[in-house]
Amino acid sequence: MESKISQREQWTSKLGFILAAAGSAIGLGNLWGFSYRASQGGGAAFVLLYIFIVLIVCLPVFVAEMALGRNSMKSPLFAPVELGGTNWYPLGILFFIAPIGILSFYSVIMSWTADTFFHIFFFGLPKDISEAENVFKSISGGSSVLLGHLLSLVLTAMIVSSGIKKGIEKVTRYFMPILFIILLGLAIWASTLSGAWEGYKTFLLKFDFAELKNPQTIRNAFGQAFFSLSLGIGIMVAYASYLSKKSNLPKLSFGVATLDTLVGLIAGLITFPIVLTFGLSDVISESTIGTLFISIPSGLASSGLAGRIVAIVFFGLVFIAAITSSVSLLEVPVSSLMDKFGYQRIKSVWIITLLIFILGIPPALNGGVLETLISLTDVLLIFGGFLVTFFMGWVVPRRLDSELDDSKVGTKTVRYLKFMMRWVAPPIIAFGLLISIFELLKGWIN
Ligand code: PHE
Repeated sequence: MESKISQREQWTSKLGFILAAAGSAIGLGNLWGFSYRASQGGGAAFVLLYIFIVLIVCLPVFVAEMALGRNSMKSPLFAPVELGGTNWYPLGILFFIAPIGILSFYSVIMSWTADTFFHIFFFGLPKDISEAENVFKSISGGSSVLLGHLLSLVLTAMIVSSGIKKGIEKVTRYFMPILFIILLGLAIWASTLSGAWEGYKTFLLKFDFAELKNPQTIRNAFGQAFFSLSLGIGIMVAYASYLSKKSNLPKLSFGVATLDTLVGLIAGLITFPIVLTFGLSDVISESTIGTLFISIPSGLASSGLAGRIVAIVFFGLVFIAAITSSVSLLEVPVSSLMDKFGYQRIKSVWIITLLIFILGIPPALNGGVLETLISLTDVLLIFGGFLVTFFMGWVVPRRLDSELDDSKVGTKTVRYLKFMMRWVAPPIIAFGLLISIFELLKGWIN
């Protein structure tokens, strides 16, 4: 039975929300995924497509998700039903299941990050690529990865069990400023490397028009945009349900999207100079999900103690970014279970955490399963994004109107957003979805 939560928690301030939402958005997707995908090809065309999708498609999705959360004041499982009736329960179920699936492998990559961090801290950097590959093999296999997966989840669970204000908001308030400072520090350091300019050129200026038509690049850009902004699976529905009625949704979503995109770009300004300075292009061109964990440590090894410090700081940064994202992934099913059965937060947290731990065992132990889950995720997020914009734009437009009116944004912005949400975003997302499904199937057949 659905039970009412008498007093819904609220963020203490707008900044609290922005940092928490940016904390969700900024994560492995920016620091690992962005360079992983940008290096799979596409160069500057990938970056351009990505920015285009963020501006034209993802911003309306963002506002739609926030409007859904704040208007319903329900957990993602029940928000669509609250506004659109029981026919929309499947959308709520998608919101409930998708973050569970994503967190089950996300925490595996968190475990690699933490393990790499500790390995460099205690034993130093690997001497060459082959040693780095061996280290990565040991980190990403056997009991080590299971323990890391478990500990990452337990840490996430401890934060979420403390609630919105005392858990998620408090942690992101401390971690996000630290993250920004480290990121800037590393970018400045990377700019002093001998291959910095080569790196920037490869990342931002190597423009090939044909890449704009390459389905692989299009799919990567769509997937990256949705994944990086945490869109399509109810995260922003959950976070916006804790917002006060006074806050301006379009402005908040623009702020979060800008922060996230900047961090993605700055991460590229760090990783690409490292790759080009230390001659790692070959490792990168055979890009696998482990690339970052192999190339960065082996590249930095030639810089002695300074390299070791940079590597420790870098992987610490990646872990901080990941934890503020994993809490958002856990919050969605946790709040949904609380809503559904009237459970206490703590009980809900541990039930879901146990489930995610078990589901994460196959991807933890098998790289193939992990890669399959990652490629499925893109499709899922894009599909969810399509449904949310369609739902808010066409099925319950009045609810959208009332949220935008409450936001006190100018009438021009409101008109623009509604137009984008109805006429522009859904067809472009549908196009991206088709290409992504097609590419996914192609990958499976080959
Ligand atoms: N946006 C997060 C990242 O970039 C990952 C994430 C995806 C979080 C989807 C929530 C939902 O790492």
